[in-house]
Amino acid sequence: MKKVCIVGYGAIGPIHGLALEKVEQARLYGVCDIDPERRRLCREKYGVKEYEDFDAMLQDPAVDSVHICTPHWLHYEMIRRALEAGKDVVTEKPVTRTRQEWNSLKALEGSDRVCVVLQNRLNPCILKLRELILEGSLGRAVAVRAVLTWSRDRAYYESGDWRGRWATEGGGLLINQAIHTLDFISYLLGDIRKVRTDMCNHTLEGVIEVEDTLSAHLELESGVKGVFFATNGYSENSAPFLEISFEKGVARYMDQKLWVNGCLAAEDAPAVAGKDYWGRGHERLLQRYYDQQTCFTLSDAENTMETMFAMYEDAVSGKPFRGGSGPFTAP
Ligand SMILES: NC(=O)c1ccc[n+]([C@@H]2O[C@H](COP(=O)([O-])OP(=O)(O)OC[C@H]3O[C@@H](n4cnc5c(N)ncnc54)[C@H](O)[C@@H]3O)[C@@H](O)[C@H]2O)c1
Repeated sequence: MKKVCIVGYGAIGPIHGLALEKVEQARLYGVCDIDPERRRLCREKYGVKEYEDFDAMLQDPAVDSVHICTPHWLHYEMIRRALEAGKDVVTEKPVTRTRQEWNSLKALEGSDRVCVVLQNRLNPCILKLRELILEGSLGRAVAVRAVLTWSRDRAYYESGDWRGRWATEGGGLLINQAIHTLDFISYLLGDIRKVRTDMCNHTLEGVIEVEDTLSAHLELESGVKGVFFATNGYSENSAPFLEISFEKGVARYMDQKLWVNGCLAAEDAPAVAGKDYWGRGHERLLQRYYDQQTCFTLSDAENTMETMFAMYEDAVSGKPFRGGSGPFTAP
């Protein structure tokens, strides 16, 4: 039975707590957060040990596994230190904030054991779609389009001083929200090899430094061509839309349902808690990791991370940036 410490008990940390309740081979043992109120919430709910200081927590031999649920700029250093202390590591996306950190992480001893939270890969519709693609009954994929229209307003960005800043979040819409939709594409259809991307800040000028909207053309190793539009400047959080055209038909993931050639093929279950669009993936991902010893590794996340960095480099690195006070240096 692994003893887990959640590091960062803000928005997503509690979802890890709830998901761990459904895991057999692990239990929540501790919470590490610099905010005493957040630690108190977790201790009162689960009766766990509190740690104010990350390094002090790492020195506790009772902790087997740490879940990194902190702001992006802390991920690399926390993962590095946790590996050095011999802990198992589960990290929230994005694995790192910059390409440089990503490359350094991959070179660290033990980093091949890091479990990456890309929980939406385990949505029933995505699992079904992947199964259909692997079995080949729809023929070769020829085109993909993805659309994400979500709402992140001033209040959201002001809820944490790390949000909306290059130095601490590493980007905006793409690195934090649309990364899951981008990930669907490479997870289902194979590596993306080329991107042309435009980014801008349409709705939060003066509030965030980073992008709230992007549009991109993608080219995959397989020859599949794709288009991708995403924004945080919509008025609600619509379910992601993904359409893949095959030689023998079309699959559409919309309204959390999968339609194949017009027939319902799968349906996602409602969220276990928290935001509906976080789904039940955390539960499945942690069950897979602790009970079945399988996870999404850094190499499973590689193409999504590389594509994300390439999109920032293409769209904003050193260029004027509409809606911001650019030019910015992308991560
Ligand atoms: N997989 C998903 O669908 C999903 C959803 C939401 C967030 N996330 C990811 O989870 C991570 C956290 O996001 P969030 O929205 O929960 O952020 P948040 O700001 O709500 O919570 C972060 C927590 O980390 C704590 N913290 C900050 N510095 C710390 C330190 N040095 N030591 C210990 N604790 C510290 C803060 O006090 C806060 O409680 C991000 O990587 C984000 O992208 C993933």
